Amino acid sequence: MTINQQRITEHAVTVDVGEAFYNPHTTTDREITIASLAAFDRTVDHIETYLDTFSATGIRGLRAAAELGLVVTLNDRDPDAVGTIKRNIVSNGLGHCCEVTNEDANVLLNKKRFDVVDIDPFGSPAPYLAAASRSARRMLAITATDTAPLCGAHLKSGIRKYAAVPMNNEYHAEIGVRVLMGAIARALAVVDRAMVPLLSYARRHYHRVYAGVSRGAASADRSIAQMGFIAHCPHCGFRIPVAGLAPIVPDVCRICGNRMQATGPLWLGALHNPAFCESVAQELRNRESGGDAIKLVEICKCELAVPTFYDQHRICHALKIPPITIDAVIDKLGSAGFSASRTHFSGTSFKTDADIREIAEILR
Ligand SMILES: C[S@@+](CC[C@H](N)C(=O)[O-])C[C@H]1O[C@@H](n2cnc3c(N)ncnc32)[C@H](O)[C@@H]1O
Ligand SMILES: [Zn+2]
Repeated sequence: MTINQQRITEHAVTVDVGEAFYNPHTTTDREITIASLAAFDRTVDHIETYLDTFSATGIRGLRAAAELGLVVTLNDRDPDAVGTIKRNIVSNGLGHCCEVTNEDANVLLNKKRFDVVDIDPFGSPAPYLAAASRSARRMLAITATDTAPLCGAHLKSGIRKYAAVPMNNEYHAEIGVRVLMGAIARALAVVDRAMVPLLSYARRHYHRVYAGVSRGAASADRSIAQMGFIAHCPHCGFRIPVAGLAPIVPDVCRICGNRMQATGPLWLGALHNPAFCESVAQELRNRESGGDAIKLVEICKCELAVPTFYDQHRICHALKIPPITIDAVIDKLGSAGFSASRTHFSGTSFKTDADIREIAEILR
């Protein structure tokens, strides 16, 4: 492998990329990681130990150690990456609070427990969810970059990885996050634990879920009760959530009479906890993090807790009317007595409890 001479500084930490992987496009995601860890410690539950399971250069774990004072384990299966991590620990003077391991993620996760387990692999986290669910005492932070399987573009791969049928439509990014959350909730339920959503988003090709871990079979049952399906009419855009793992899913659209398609099982519950999002946004502001991270978390905080969103351009195209601003759409829906919000998934889209026929009437 060629040695990358690049030296990267993110906040309190400077790393040499060396023989490890580094993606500059995920700096915003690491900002949100640090702020989420800080917010969790301040407002939810005290945390001490953090496992950066897929550490690469070590930048994420080193930032957690340097900026939050956490006791961090930095792991990578690749011995070259481990060499880079060790050098970066020394150059940042963090030897007193960092341990390095060179293991396959599942081996380490099955051996040791951590307050927070961070899974940031290449592609799918699915092979690690079972072991991560056992290892994490308080919080899971899970990345998925296999957007094609999650969002329905690679149907069979999505079914293999997540035991869910995805759907490739205008809100496929949200379907992807919900399929991922469903897989996390089920992995936790196997060990009598519940997924407590804190902040979940899709940005570029990066799906990320921050969830608290709550113990007990009863809370796991309540979590699993938030699984279900979405029936979608590709003809008119009508969609309806159907709760349960073996529900009767309607297959005829009640608006246009065409055939509906089902996607799931996926998580139908909340994507975020608004109070937690506000704490994360506060941490980002205090740390003078970039505007992208703050904007994303602020939108998540205000997102209506309904399982899909509508793309205004698509609706306006079908109605042959010009689009207006999203704020104007939200105002119109609000004046008509519906709830509505922006969505972080798309700048041209909105969430609402109005159905497609009601939206069309209001936009006309
Ligand atoms: C996407 S990179 C991690 C990026 C890093 N978290 C960051 O924020 O910059 C994935 C890393 O996981 C390592 N890896 C891949 N499979 C692994 C496995 N099964 N167990 C442990 N590490 C693994 C790779 O060597 C690579 O360094
Ligand atoms: Zn229809």
